[in-house]
Amino acid sequence: MSFNIAIDGPAGAGKSSVARAAAKKLGYIYVDTGALYRAVGLKFLKSGADTALDCDISAVLKSTVVEIKFINGEQRVLLDGCDVSDEIRTPEASKMASAVSAKPEVRAFLLEMQRKAAADSNVIMDGRDIGTVVLPDADVKIYLTASPEVRAERRFKGTSVSYEAVLADIISRDSADMNREIAPLKKAEDAVLADTSDCGFDESVELIVKIIKERVG
Ligand code: DC
Repeated sequence: MSFNIAIDGPAGAGKSSVARAAAKKLGYIYVDTGALYRAVGLKFLKSGADTALDCDISAVLKSTVVEIKFINGEQRVLLDGCDVSDEIRTPEASKMASAVSAKPEVRAFLLEMQRKAAADSNVIMDGRDIGTVVLPDADVKIYLTASPEVRAERRFKGTSVSYEAVLADIISRDSADMNREIAPLKKAEDAVLADTSDCGFDESVELIVKIIKERVG
């Protein structure tokens, strides 16, 4: 019997860093599902597609193998046998991840892999549709968010882009994620809302750990 914790929320809410730290504290495995969409996006990038995805999506997926491995508790993502964990973080891979994630064939392609990862271990899984689609029976569901301005502020620090440009990007990503037809980002009815607009990083981790402990002991 394993415990499954679903954490969903918009881009830039700090989901992955908070979920990773909370998983460490609780001895859970952290599963970053965005990395899977990024790996598929990279495959399409490598196959010469652009974000319009005017190609035979099913044919590309048929020749695609995405795997996740855990090395010292850290998730690595393999695309066609190669570790692409770093390559998937480029801006180009991010854009393609967003484009492929709107395609039903891609979501179906990654669904079982995510469920399988959750079946065998105690996991904290983060994404956009974990509580609503991937793990509808998760033991705890958390919707982690912060205001667009606060998320932009956090992203903006240490970059050479203007705050206004970062904020505009966040607002447009929110709109794309929340308004897509398939598996849109939304709070599951039974998810706990965790708004970290007024929390620092450590406080956000404490909040998530507390929510989880209160529910699964
Ligand atoms: O969380 P991230 O930025 O690494 O996610 C990359 C892209 O994948 C992002 O555009 C949203 C999408 N995604 C998704 O549609 N469903 C998930 N469960 C995780 C990510």
